Amino acid sequence: MKVLVVGNGGREHALAWKISQSPLLSELYCAKGNAGTEGIAKNLPIDPTDIKALADFAQKEGIDFTVVGPEAPLVAGLVDEFEKRGLRVFGPNQRASLLEGSKVFAKEFMQRHGIPTAEFHTFEDPQRAKNFLRDFGLPVVVKADGLASGKGVFVCKTFEEAFQAIDYLMTRKVLGEAGSKVVLEEFLEGEEASYIVLLKGDRYVPLPTSQDHKRLLDGDRGPNTGGMGAYSPTPFVDEATERDIREQVIERLIRGLKAEGIEYRGFLYAGLMLTSRGPRVLEFNVRLGDPEAQALLMRIKGDFLRSLVDFYEGKEPYLQVEAETSLCVVLASKGYPEKVEDNKEIFGLERVNDLEKVVVFHAGTERRGSKVFTKGGRVLNVCASGKDLKEAKERAYRAVESISFEGMHYRKDIGDRALKKLR
Ligand code: AMP
Ligand code: GLY
Repeated sequence: MKVLVVGNGGREHALAWKISQSPLLSELYCAKGNAGTEGIAKNLPIDPTDIKALADFAQKEGIDFTVVGPEAPLVAGLVDEFEKRGLRVFGPNQRASLLEGSKVFAKEFMQRHGIPTAEFHTFEDPQRAKNFLRDFGLPVVVKADGLASGKGVFVCKTFEEAFQAIDYLMTRKVLGEAGSKVVLEEFLEGEEASYIVLLKGDRYVPLPTSQDHKRLLDGDRGPNTGGMGAYSPTPFVDEATERDIREQVIERLIRGLKAEGIEYRGFLYAGLMLTSRGPRVLEFNVRLGDPEAQALLMRIKGDFLRSLVDFYEGKEPYLQVEAETSLCVVLASKGYPEKVEDNKEIFGLERVNDLEKVVVFHAGTERRGSKVFTKGGRVLNVCASGKDLKEAKERAYRAVESISFEGMHYRKDIGDRALKKLR
């Protein structure tokens, strides 16, 4: 089977790594991939959002199955184009991808179908948004409507911060069209969790639970990022909580999609706040999380490609999960999540290659000859598994010590809140 993985990040390296172990596979391609996918797949010089070029390639090469990593090509209609050409692709179509592509759509969808989420109001005019805020109270969360790579959300403790966020998105339009509408949302307290399922029509199969670390700095300080680290499973999702998530979130979502005539096939990710009143959806994503995918794919046993293909074809997928815990630490470039400088040589990768139960997934990297250089904000994902969270954490951070590049920074507290709970 010839397989194409679309994307350049750590999630896509992890997908390619897992798929490359499948006996079903004959050839693996990655568009565009990175220095990590290079060793296991053929990297293609095609941008993940260049849908026509990807479909042309898939047709010409006779690709049997395509797996899409990031949201942008899904929201731009990659699946619709592939399906029009009779190409098999794992991911939701453009209409279903609005669940991630528009926060306004997603919030109104949740409201229509009784899916628990934070109270919210949407605005197209900055002055109205500001006037409204005075009555809404603090803290408040200001969210861009459109895609922003995790950087369009501002948790604001003061009116000044909230006004600045509104100006940033709506007046200065720093994120472009993504900020032309905003959602103002009630601030929720609790633990966050990522709940990801394979979803097709009214069938779904949960993947292992995980927890991301969205803030840039230790102790959950600093701005939101795409994610600075994750581990799986998370002790914050116990059996009763998982039952609530399935019944109140996933199953209501499925009924809602059906009622609105929206077909869904692919990964579906619910970003949750586990509050004292039960789970609340912060966002839906129409793909695997990054870095959650890196942590949870470390735990999937057996042939994941076969599981995806079987699920796609309507068969019961074989999905068994390692009892071990996995943990992923993101190594980022100086300046991330804002402007970063590329082209820093990365040292020490060869030293972690042979470490037991450690895998380094590349994200923003580029190989030149025998050397690897940084190219982007999130550079590497150092992942490890262990008999428990403590062991996985120690192993991952020991591996991190072998790696360096100029300006490298990372959080040192991935998994700490869970460790405290487990104590
Ligand atoms: P989102 O992209 O909507 O998931 O938001 C990104 C991050 O912002 C979340 O992972 C939370 O850490 C935080 N966040 C979003 N919405 C809320 C909320 N209503 N209350 C508290 N924190 C939030
Ligand atoms: N790690 C969060 C996300 O992928 O959206």
